[in-house]
Amino acid sequence: MATQTGKMPVSRLIREQRTELPIPSTPLDGKTVLITGANTGLGLEAARHCVRLNAANVIITTRTAAKGEVAKEEILKPNPDSKTNISVYTVNYSSFASVKAFADKVIAEVPKLDIVILNAGISATNWNVTEDGWEEVLQVNVLSTAYISLLLLPKIRQSYEASSALMPTLVIVTSDTHYWARFKQRQYASEKMGILNAMNDKKISLNVDKYFMSKLLEVYFLRELAKWIDANYKGDVVVTGVNPGLCHSELIREGVITNIIAGTFKWIMARTAEVGSRNYLWAATAGRKAHGQYVGSCEVQKPAVVVTSEEGQKLGVKVYEEILEALSALDDRVRVFSQ
Ligand SMILES: NC(=O)c1ccc[n+]([C@@H]2O[C@H](COP(=O)([O-])OP(=O)(O)OC[C@H]3O[C@@H](n4cnc5c(N)ncnc54)[C@H](OP(=O)(O)O)[C@@H]3O)[C@@H](O)[C@H]2O)c1
Repeated sequence: MATQTGKMPVSRLIREQRTELPIPSTPLDGKTVLITGANTGLGLEAARHCVRLNAANVIITTRTAAKGEVAKEEILKPNPDSKTNISVYTVNYSSFASVKAFADKVIAEVPKLDIVILNAGISATNWNVTEDGWEEVLQVNVLSTAYISLLLLPKIRQSYEASSALMPTLVIVTSDTHYWARFKQRQYASEKMGILNAMNDKKISLNVDKYFMSKLLEVYFLRELAKWIDANYKGDVVVTGVNPGLCHSELIREGVITNIIAGTFKWIMARTAEVGSRNYLWAATAGRKAHGQYVGSCEVQKPAVVVTSEEGQKLGVKVYEEILEALSALDDRVRVFSQ
């Protein structure tokens, strides 16, 4: 573990961005990997790695079937003779109905899931509210990511084989921006409003902080889910969070100021999406050492102090409980994951 500070000053960011990352080399023969949001950016590059590493099946998701067919061709371009079977599912994280229909289809149709990489995500400074009544960044990055995680977890567990070198693994794509979250909403943790409702309140949530906060909540969620897995699945599944680092992609799609700031940072130090996606494969094949951990630059790292401190650990439990409460109102299957 190279970095223990739990902080991300710009000096560390630059150091991390310059770190050379190993090209993934763990074979994926016979494995089925699901990657969400794989028509572009990091998801697309991660899918290419899986094909190169000879996965039996790569399931990608896109928002429309048409995008999926284009993505399939793009993924196969570097390996046109690959034997990997690529299939496309559609899901829109901005709708719980779509997420539920997607997860149900996967559960019904896919015989086994060895690795699931929940990569789809947005960074938006505009305030958009979904049909489900949640601010969109919060719903896409946190609630829908958690919902898919919980619905697919029993299926992922079915892949566990004591004799296999690779553990069934759920990878949640988070970000080093979680270190920068202001977390103004924490003052509502012990009030009736709670953290999620405070994040859903336009008067409380800062537009620029929404994305950072969503990535922080993902870290809390995966750490608590790891504890649940240890207690209830005897550790048969690995859940881990991965930061790809600052990468060239389509993530920043709106906001002139945001684009200028992010564009400058990217111009100075961004990785290509291919290099960033190496982290995904590292996390997906690292096994127990990555369980419940935050991975960056292809190593286990210490997440933000606001995660690991005494207060942070209590906040983690609270965030997990609130997510479970919100999702249990949609789907009874989620209740079992309560701590
Ligand atoms: N790029 C970075 O510097 C960076 C740094 C740290 C973490 N990350 C994380 O890495 C992940 C991938 O980001 P990226 O940089 O590769 O961005 P990207 O190029 O914008 O790709 C995002 C993917 O997510 C999909 N997506 C967006 N909204 C969705 C929705 N409502 N439902 C379903 N799919 C949706 C997109 O589909 P469409 O093409 O249809 O929109 C696309 O496939 C995100 O979780 C992001 O937070 C990125």
